[in-house]
Amino acid sequence: MANSDSTTIGIPATGALPRHVAIIMDGNGRWAKQRYLPRIAGHRGGAEKVRSTVRACAEKGIEYLTLFAFSSENWRRPAEEVSFLMQLFISALEQEVAKLHENGVRFKVIGDLSRFERPLQKLVADAENLTRNNTRLTLTVAANYGGRWDIMEAVKRMLADKPQLAADFTESDLLPYLSLAYAPEPDLFIRTGGEQRISNFLLWQLAYTEMYFTDTLWPDFDIAAFDTAIESYTRRERRFGRTSEQLREDAARQTPRRALDGR
Ligand code: IPE
Ligand code: IPE
Ligand code: MG
Repeated sequence: MANSDSTTIGIPATGALPRHVAIIMDGNGRWAKQRYLPRIAGHRGGAEKVRSTVRACAEKGIEYLTLFAFSSENWRRPAEEVSFLMQLFISALEQEVAKLHENGVRFKVIGDLSRFERPLQKLVADAENLTRNNTRLTLTVAANYGGRWDIMEAVKRMLADKPQLAADFTESDLLPYLSLAYAPEPDLFIRTGGEQRISNFLLWQLAYTEMYFTDTLWPDFDIAAFDTAIESYTRRERRFGRTSEQLREDAARQTPRRALDGR
C-alpha cells in the first residue's frame, strides 16, 4: 500500500468498479447442516465458489481479490475439521495453481504460515514464486490470519529494521510492513452467512471500505449474488470524510475538462 493509496493520508481515486474486493466466506457449516451433511461437505461446496469468484473477478477486471480462508481463531475448532481444512487447502493448491498461472493470476498468502506443516508452507512458497510476475488479478488468501496479528507484526518488523523509530513513527513508516503492503485498501468488503462482524479480518485496511453483508451462505454465493454486491457498491457515495457538496463540486470541475480533452 503506497502512501497515495492510503485513505487516511490521501483521497484515493475511485471508479465504478471496485479495484479490491475482500471477502469473509462464511456459512459453510450451516449450508451443510441444512442438507443434513457433515460440515466438511460445506467446505467442499465453498471451495467451488472460490473458483467461480476468482474467475468472475478476472473477467470483470477487478485487480485484487482477498479471501479469508482460515482465521487465527479457527484453530479453536474440532481437530478433525481443522485437519480437513488444511487438506482442502493443500489439494486446492495442487490442483489450481497451474491454472491460476495460465490465467495471469498472481497468488499470495497472508497470515502466520509458521504454524502450518512444512509441505503446505512449500506449496505456498512455490505458488507465490511461480505467479509473482502475473498482473491480471492478485488473489490473496488469508490463512491463519488475524488483523491484530498483522498490525503487531508490522510494528515489530518495522522496529527491527529501523530501531530509531521506537521514539516516534508515522502511518507512512508503518505501511510497508503491513501484510497487504502490495495492494490498495479494499474498496468493497463482502461477508456472506448473515453475521455482521469483522471477526479479526483486515482491521487496518478496512478503514474506509464499503461494507456489504448478505444472508446468502458461502456455498450458495454464485455470480448473480456477486453481481448484486457489486451493484450495491456502485450506488455508494464514498466521501472519505468530505461532504456530498464537495464531491459534487469536484465532479463539476472535472467534467468540462474531460469534455475539452475529448476534442
Ligand atoms: C466459513 O464457514 C469457513 C471457515 C471459517 C473456514 P463456517 O465453517 O464458519 O460456517 P458456519 O459459520 O459454521 O456456517
Ligand atoms: C470468519 O468466520 C473466518 C473465516 C471465514 C475464515 P468464522 O465463522 O470463523 O467467524 P465467527 O466465529 O462467526 O466470528
Ligand atoms: Mg462461520
